[in-house]
Amino acid sequence: MELSITARQSLTAPSRPEHVREPTVALATPARGGPHGKVALRGVGKTYVSAAGPVQALQDIDLEIAPGSIFGIIGRSGAGKSSLLRTINRLERPTSGRVEVDDVDLATLDETQLVALRRRIGMIFQHFNLLAAKTVFDNIALPLRVAGVPRAQITQRVHELLALVGLQDKADSYPRRLSGGQKQRVGIARALASGPEILLCDEATSALDPETTQSILQLLRDINRKLGITIILITHEMSVIREIADRVLVLEQGRVAELGEVWQVFGKPQHAATRALLAPLQHGLPQELQQALQPQAPAGRHERVLQLEFHGGDGLQPDLQRIAAVLGGRVRVLQAGVDHIQGHTHGQLVLAVADAPASHDWLALTQGAQAIAHHIKELGYVADPVHSH
Ligand SMILES: Nc1ncnc2c1ncn2[C@@H]1O[C@H](COP(=O)(O)OP(=O)(O)O)[C@@H](O)[C@H]1O
Ligand SMILES: [Mg+2]
Repeated sequence: MELSITARQSLTAPSRPEHVREPTVALATPARGGPHGKVALRGVGKTYVSAAGPVQALQDIDLEIAPGSIFGIIGRSGAGKSSLLRTINRLERPTSGRVEVDDVDLATLDETQLVALRRRIGMIFQHFNLLAAKTVFDNIALPLRVAGVPRAQITQRVHELLALVGLQDKADSYPRRLSGGQKQRVGIARALASGPEILLCDEATSALDPETTQSILQLLRDINRKLGITIILITHEMSVIREIADRVLVLEQGRVAELGEVWQVFGKPQHAATRALLAPLQHGLPQELQQALQPQAPAGRHERVLQLEFHGGDGLQPDLQRIAAVLGGRVRVLQAGVDHIQGHTHGQLVLAVADAPASHDWLALTQGAQAIAHHIKELGYVADPVHSH
């Protein structure tokens, strides 16, 4: 086993005081020279044999996860997310295809090599899976004891990990005395104990309240940045993906429904499964507006209601002055939901436009230098509230 520290795996956080010594042990055995924490699935299928017959949990999964990136997996319950994740540390053996970690086909590993592989891949769970009868220190130390690391090194390493996850004062506490967020911090410290290159997270924030979720996400992002660890996370919370993932996979009935950069997939979902998952993030039209909308222009003074969508990608901004100038009338904002994902603006504006020329070539207003939005849809008409009183 390699016992020298690599810079990539230093646990020293920038926020820690200068006098704290650099860790002197590394407990992982990264392959020299090659990529660290690269994962590839090539034509992976998984069929379970159950009493009720075969269950095809995964089919034809092809994907690559870049070293040091954060990769999200979403999909309905039963879509195969956990099965996929578990093929990466070989807790599940694919029925077909192959899984490679740092370009090594996992099917070629013998038992000893599998043990070594699992030290390079940490895992955290929704229900933390801590040992209730052991202290925080002992929970984190466990994988190191199993690996036969000398006692003095274990002590040093566990204290570094406690500092990393912000639990310096909890070494002697038992799990039952900890909050959910603190328990997950212990789970994360334990998962990082042997200096992994990859961290697998299966619904790791699902049991936490929104505020605690935020702090755990912040910690995962810090770990990703400071240690360069590849993070692969399953979640049913779309906001989690939006906040920290680089790329996202949408699984539907064991198949890849969508795969790509988060800002692209979330900005312009192509698959019905993605749209269904994202629905809670999208703002529907207010009910009052829905009721007031008319398909044809009413006889009196009226406004045309437009929905402008922004999908990011080319720097196009929801510039109200420009939009009003191009539409050539008075513009009222009925609803606005604009977000920034990985530096790209996406969202929608619902506008009521009065006194505008009768019709526009909407398509032309979504293209080239003319563009005011990426997509424009006429929702209908409403009576003009400004002139109807
Ligand atoms: N050990 C198993 N034996 C039989 N069927 C399983 C087993 N594990 C998972 N499955 C089935 O495989 C499918 C995918 O499960 P899973 O990967 O847990 O989905 P997800 O994590 O997306 O909810 C489901 O239909 C599930 O019932
Ligand atoms: Mg699952």
